[in-house]
Amino acid sequence: MARRGGIFAGDDPFAIARRWLAEAGAREPSDPNAAALATVDPQGMPDVRIVLIKEITDDAFVFFTNYESRKGRELAACPRAALNFHWKSLARQIRVRGLVERESAERSDAYYRTRPLGSRIGAWASRQSRPLGSKAALLRAVARERARLGGDPPRPPFWGGFRILPLEIEFWAAGRFRLHDRFRWQRPAVDAAGWEISRLQP
Ligand SMILES: Cc1cc2nc3c(=O)[nH]c(=O)nc-3n(C[C@H](O)[C@H](O)[C@H](O)COP(=O)(O)O)c2cc1C
Repeated sequence: MARRGGIFAGDDPFAIARRWLAEAGAREPSDPNAAALATVDPQGMPDVRIVLIKEITDDAFVFFTNYESRKGRELAACPRAALNFHWKSLARQIRVRGLVERESAERSDAYYRTRPLGSRIGAWASRQSRPLGSKAALLRAVARERARLGGDPPRPPFWGGFRILPLEIEFWAAGRFRLHDRFRWQRPAVDAAGWEISRLQP
């Protein structure tokens, strides 16, 4: 196995990712948990947008969204995704590729309840990724949903979490003269016994 230490120390890639995210949290001006999420449409055309990774568990990277959004529909048709964190303040990135499943209803409910009321109402009012006639129409939808749902709205059935179960996680840190450090954790299946770890050329 490739020799590792310092910021790459440890064998559990989820623990390393949580550690790097915590370090980014102390340095980045905003949204250290923002990551680019790539999906593909049914024609194989790639798509990418930023989401907030709300949790890194011992087996998954978790984000929340509208299941009927473009990404939600793409993931329903092809439950595979790639994720890329880039922290300029640390000169590091993490790349993830894996399989995607929906977060449980219980855990999506639990996260939804932690959100500010305005965000909970907004999740009901926005048919994310669909055309919108005007901002005023959206604000009318928000007012309508607020009046209909009151002060403690339940989670919309079309909104919740996705879990990215990695087959591959790469940790990258900038080096002098572009001699960057890269280590990749790879496994053939998400229930495989362990990871193969390799150092990659920059
Ligand atoms: C910093 C940042 C964080 C974002 N976080 C989320 C998020 O957690 N969930 C989400 O659905 N959209 C999030 N968005 C909006 C998405 O980038 C995107 O516009 C939206 O999800 C619609 O994407 P889609 O049409 O591909 O489904 C975020 C955007 C930015 C810039």
